[in-house]
Amino acid sequence: MATRLRQIKLGMFLRPAGHHLAAWRHENSQADAGVSFERFVEVAQIAERGLFDMLFSADSATANSVFDEAGLRRMSYVAWIEPFTLLAGLASVTRNIGLVCTASTTYEEPFSLARKFASLDHISHGRAGWNLVTSGNHTAAQNFSRNEHMAKDKRYLRAKEFSDVVLGLWDSWEEDAFIRNRDSGIFFDPRKLHTLNHVGEHFRVMGPLNVARSPQGRPVLVQAGASDDGKQLAAETAEVVFTAAPTIEEGRAFYSDVKERMVAFGRDPDSLKVMPGFFVTTGETSAEAHEKREALQALIHPEVGLALLSQRMGINLSGYDVDGPVPDIHPDNVISSRVTLLSDMARRENMTIRQLYTHIAGGRGHYDVCGTPKDIADVMEEWFITGAADGFNVMPPVFPDSLSDFVNLVVPELQKRGLFRTAYEGKTLRENLGLQRPQNRYVL
Ligand SMILES: Cc1cc2nc3c(=O)[nH]c(=O)nc-3n(C[C@H](O)[C@H](O)[C@H](O)COP(=O)(O)O)c2cc1C
Repeated sequence: MATRLRQIKLGMFLRPAGHHLAAWRHENSQADAGVSFERFVEVAQIAERGLFDMLFSADSATANSVFDEAGLRRMSYVAWIEPFTLLAGLASVTRNIGLVCTASTTYEEPFSLARKFASLDHISHGRAGWNLVTSGNHTAAQNFSRNEHMAKDKRYLRAKEFSDVVLGLWDSWEEDAFIRNRDSGIFFDPRKLHTLNHVGEHFRVMGPLNVARSPQGRPVLVQAGASDDGKQLAAETAEVVFTAAPTIEEGRAFYSDVKERMVAFGRDPDSLKVMPGFFVTTGETSAEAHEKREALQALIHPEVGLALLSQRMGINLSGYDVDGPVPDIHPDNVISSRVTLLSDMARRENMTIRQLYTHIAGGRGHYDVCGTPKDIADVMEEWFITGAADGFNVMPPVFPDSLSDFVNLVVPELQKRGLFRTAYEGKTLRENLGLQRPQNRYVL
């Protein structure tokens, strides 16, 4: 069998008006994009024209993701269409692109989650993926009859058991379990049905799943969470890792760490694709790209900047002087690896609150790159060939313009270098990502 050339994988990170904080205020975006299915269709189809591997959606089970009302009233992503439902809708207006949605192991139940994603895999003929998160946003707890967000170590223990249950349920039915023989009247072969009977610390799930084995064998398992526990879980179970790496050095360190951890689980490092977020602004010339970027930065209101930073750092910064220093965070209040990342950067570069929020307004802690298609391709190539990434989750600042720029300008440059496909290789997300079809645990 011919071995496939290693090429860059691309995710297109969905967001209503764009990834830049002020995207919805930009003259070419759509202010009500979050409730416009038609706009999401347009964006999905541009990404598919650009041969992206997948559409990717983050998610949060709370509107209240910032502390202060002054900032909240200016946030466009405070409310938008629930992403799983959105992807189910997009499945019918796309043909090749993968559909990956975030869902939380802290606030979902494994049976209903396994059922939904297996169904999406059927509806899309093998293009579904689940991004496993444990949720960083503590206000979600109050939407789920809990007083507090679970502590991180507990969240990850629950996440591990949760994913075990989901993977078990996805093996409920063997590939050929459904005979559907009208003459004999036999619908399925009971020997090919497997009941999980899971009893654990967090879940009691009998099974089997009431959805047939899905076209990909099972949906692709993505994971986002970069702490030690997060990396461990990724190394054991994930097929794609979405990560935030603000520098190539941090990208390489994360990449080699996760891939090395996989060895202990007997996994081939190539069976997991590391895909950092990439916030990309491009134009025909460097000056044009920077102009586009500056136009967006100028639209950030200080209240929004403060609210963003408060949310990212897990402390309420309203009332702080935006031109003063970034306060130190007490280690007990560090709710995620990203908080440490931000406060380290602020200290290292002696940044004020305003400088920090302007800095993260676009990339939000992800790598932020601005330049010509050649500049962008150079950076992507370097990350790809020096062990910092297998692909990228592209974050266009404004929809649809920045995505069209990427597709029209950067994709051809990557193709010219042999770094990116010129046609979809397979029919399923798994095939396009170069991932193996999983064996059913009950079939020897
Ligand atoms: C790159 C990245 C993306 C994430 N996306 C989401 C998300 O969409 N929704 C969510 O609830 N949590 C998200 N998380 C939060 C993680 O699920 C996790 O709960 C939190 O970061 C704490 O774990 P960690 O310290 O291992 O990162 C994300 C984390 C990372 C690192």
